[in-house]
Amino acid sequence: MQFNRLSDLIAANQLRGKRVFIRADLNVPQDDEGRITEDTRIRASVPAIRQALDAGAAVMVTSHLGRPVEGEFNPSDSLAPVATRLSALLDKRVTLIHNWVDGVEVAPGQIVLLENCRVNRGEKKNDEVLAKKMAALCDIYVNDAFGTAHRAEATTVGIAQFAPVACAGPLLAAELDALGKALNAPARPLLAIVAGSKVSSKLTILKALAAKVDHLIVGGGIANTFMLAAGLNIGKSLAEADLVDEAREIMAMMSARGASVPIPTDVVCAKQFAATATATVKAVADVEDDDLILDIGPQTAALLAAQIAQAGTVVWNGPVGVFEFEQFGHGTKTLALAIADAKAFSIAGGGDTLAAIAKYDIADRIDYISTGGGAFLEFLEGQTLPAVAILEQRFSQ
Ligand code: 3PG
Repeated sequence: MQFNRLSDLIAANQLRGKRVFIRADLNVPQDDEGRITEDTRIRASVPAIRQALDAGAAVMVTSHLGRPVEGEFNPSDSLAPVATRLSALLDKRVTLIHNWVDGVEVAPGQIVLLENCRVNRGEKKNDEVLAKKMAALCDIYVNDAFGTAHRAEATTVGIAQFAPVACAGPLLAAELDALGKALNAPARPLLAIVAGSKVSSKLTILKALAAKVDHLIVGGGIANTFMLAAGLNIGKSLAEADLVDEAREIMAMMSARGASVPIPTDVVCAKQFAATATATVKAVADVEDDDLILDIGPQTAALLAAQIAQAGTVVWNGPVGVFEFEQFGHGTKTLALAIADAKAFSIAGGGDTLAAIAKYDIADRIDYISTGGGAFLEFLEGQTLPAVAILEQRFSQ
């Protein structure tokens, strides 16, 4: 994948005195009062901004926040809390600008935050007139928003098409480098963990990975569907009976390549889905009709941990059990610690996965944690991310 990088432009001293427009993903969760509850994406966006400021540019930054109605600005859609947090992180004044499409005043060494870009009419549909106006605001466009790279919008694609120069910021470049290393040129064996409640929501990912990986570990409701496909009783566990044939097809694809989809040999069951439910470890053959499978068992977890220890690359998306309830978290914890201890290059992404990483305190032992939700999943599916495709088109040597 080849695209211009902000670091190369800075090394060539091309930012001094220039107007730089950075599309970041500052879409962070907020509580009912609008307070930011988790600021990873803001912190992850700081390096690009700081590098551009240090290089002598006049810096404009924008992002979407939530999904506002275009043309209707509500105070709850405002990036104001983000401006405050960014200002604290940069230790620098960050002015928030409304109605910025037709012109922005900013001097070299200054940063302004341009209000929620999804309030502008035409943003979501990548309107050409809007994109051209935004492109006219800058000399250099920087996309540093991996989390929004799967959206073809005016600030992610159109502006990149029309700006004099378009490049990837350090966050986007690091995401693409890490994902590319894990999926396009992986150290083998390549092991993927795809877990979650439904096969249907991850079917394309499972199929795409089945063509690439050496071990495909499935977990959660997805594993239940695979167990059903393997002819096992899963009691009243969450599963999608109509997707059993798809699961069989994936298993067949894998075994035709000499690869595997390990099916659990033991599981942790309960009679009801509750934080107080009693957890019982059972061999898969002993699962009863009124059982709910809520985690993989210790024997399965140990076997998978051993595979992880041998892997060259691990891609992790989704917890393998209901780890929010302590008694059903052992499987996820065992795999999380195995990934943390593994010599493999490891990459993880997705909301629940990040929560598990935080719970088991292993963030600094995963090689790369993606800031993308949907974008991470679409990359795993093998899809072309439109915001990346346009940067590749604009690549100049
Ligand atoms: C995300 O939170 O995954 C990104 O910011 C993209 O947001 P969207 O799904 O509203 O486009």
